[in-house]
Amino acid sequence: MGVRFTGWGIGIPDRVVTNDELSLTLDTSDAWISERTGIRERRIGGTTRTLGATAGAAALEDAGLGPSDIDFILVATSTPDRMAPSTASMIQADIGATCPALDLNAACSSFMYGVRVAQGLIETGTKRVLLIGADRLTGWVDWSDRNTAVLFGDGGGACVMEYSEDVNDILSFSLGTDGTATEILSCHHGDTFTMDGREVFRRAVRAVVDSSLEALEGAGLSADDLSLIIPHQANIRIIQAVAERLGISMDKAVITLDRYGNTSSSSIPLAFDIARKEGRIKPGEYALLTGFGAGMTWASSIIRWS
Ligand code: UT7
Repeated sequence: MGVRFTGWGIGIPDRVVTNDELSLTLDTSDAWISERTGIRERRIGGTTRTLGATAGAAALEDAGLGPSDIDFILVATSTPDRMAPSTASMIQADIGATCPALDLNAACSSFMYGVRVAQGLIETGTKRVLLIGADRLTGWVDWSDRNTAVLFGDGGGACVMEYSEDVNDILSFSLGTDGTATEILSCHHGDTFTMDGREVFRRAVRAVVDSSLEALEGAGLSADDLSLIIPHQANIRIIQAVAERLGISMDKAVITLDRYGNTSSSSIPLAFDIARKEGRIKPGEYALLTGFGAGMTWASSIIRWS
């Protein structure tokens, strides 16, 4: 038995905010932001609930399913709209489902952790899981702090994962958490994000490379076997450093941060959906999905797209 991805969808705010627009209120410039991060613009708006519900409904439609066909809803987010109830509960109502619903938080790795949790649910008898990654990080940044304000955008991305008797899309996983790194990227209740950017950068490259190698080994593959790498979209220089260390050409990397910035839990499903719509993922090919986030957390998986 295995797990198949059968539908994908996204939910993105309409409002585009360019680097030039940020430069009007912050001591920064389009040149600095694009050279140091690769980000040119981001989308801002919505709530975690609305972005997630839009993405979730789109994924259901893409899978050819209705709300009553879903057996579990997981919402991967570190910016829930309320402490209680969970964003998953509210999205369950919005999309008209009646199944159990749960939030999970591993910061920017939340979606990948969600894939692992959904896989476990399916392996223990749940038939279909709607996994949504949604974050509204721009509601939690200090708009006078140029170190963080330029990096983030809002968005949602979702997938439907289903039990399959004969197909298995998920070949391997490598997950990790280092709780001693709590203070390098953090946000207290009611406060805004603080970050030691250089330290996050340094640790992110190491964690993503190591877990990608472990995931490749788990799948019995080498980097040459990959057709695509779908990395967390935090900084183009992190992605370049990872690709170089893994010996993967940047042509194989899906990049969306130029248009959407770092959308946290939605960055990997958003990139996956865009790559798929551009015809970059073909049946039978191998893709590496890999991300990192506050915690620190990291997660890599090899999938074979069926
Ligand atoms: O999902 C996880 C989220 N977080 C990350 O992935 C963050 C990882 N880290 C990074 O992406 C990078 O470290 C940053 C983009 C945050 C910063 O880039 P950097 O190349 O590491 O810059 P830096 O922090 O070493 O700062 C270099 C200079 C400093 O000025 P001085 O001290 O040299 O005069 C900063 O004050 O750049 C300055 N600076 C800026 N200048 C213009 C920092 N942010 C900006 C800005 N515009 N937005």
